[in-house]
Amino acid sequence: MNRIYVWDRFVRIFHWSLLAAFILCYITEGEYQVHFYSGYLITALILSRAIWGLVGTKYARFSDFVYAPRLALAYLQNLFHSDESEKKLSKRLRQSKHYLGHNPAGGLMVIALMISILLTCVSGMAVYGSQGYGPFADAFETPARTSTSMDKNKAFLKTDKKDELDIKDEMEELHMEKETVESNKNKESKESKEREEFLEEIHEFFVNLTLLLVFVHIFGVALSSFKQNENLVQSMITGYKNNTKE
Ligand code: HEM
Repeated sequence: MNRIYVWDRFVRIFHWSLLAAFILCYITEGEYQVHFYSGYLITALILSRAIWGLVGTKYARFSDFVYAPRLALAYLQNLFHSDESEKKLSKRLRQSKHYLGHNPAGGLMVIALMISILLTCVSGMAVYGSQGYGPFADAFETPARTSTSMDKNKAFLKTDKKDELDIKDEMEELHMEKETVESNKNKESKESKEREEFLEEIHEFFVNLTLLLVFVHIFGVALSSFKQNENLVQSMITGYKNNTKE
């Protein structure tokens, strides 16, 4: 049979590395370090795939597989009830029915997956940031950091003011200072806890959305393979597809 090279090495390595990193990240939710680094790996993979989508080989480019949602819908209608809806297909879809790269629905799914995965990673980094780790750590003021200002105050009172205040005043001031800092710390710690929980909820939302998209993606691949009578998983391993009409 006439075979054509569709998925270049970059796309294939990207896909299977993404799958491995995704599984690793998912099953290591409680393992701080592994979850953290596999999340970074996923982010790097998605960003490099986005660049490859602009400068890569023919079928890897966004321009090859990003269609209007209307066409994706028409493609799906055609997939589910071929004969009747065939007549209703737009001229453009009929002309471009031979998809060697992603079909219009598959292309839409790729974009949705990439965006959802990226938002999952960014929200995950924000959760870590709220705990004082990772690239977003500086964007959040954590109670741990506030307490250093109390230490500075203490040091100041102990040294520079020593000559001006007697020991009693110094003790009183220190006590008041401590109480204010403690109450601020409690308030901040409550606020940061709430913020952390909110970010965790956002992260969880995107994890679930990504999981849903992955299941639809796998179902779509299985359905297309069946309809096209071609093993698409094998194509993602070898890079070759049948050069025939869908
Ligand atoms: C057992 C699980 C999986 C199988 C069998 C599978 C299979 C495939 C196949 C066959 C394609 C090419 C579709 C086509 O010919 O148009 C593809 C593309 C893709 N898959 Fe999967 N997939 C799996 C899991 C995943 C997971 C977990 C993710 C994301 C977390 C994912 C993300 C993608 C992306 C982004 C593409 C587009 C590839 C590109 O253009 O670079 N896949 N997948």
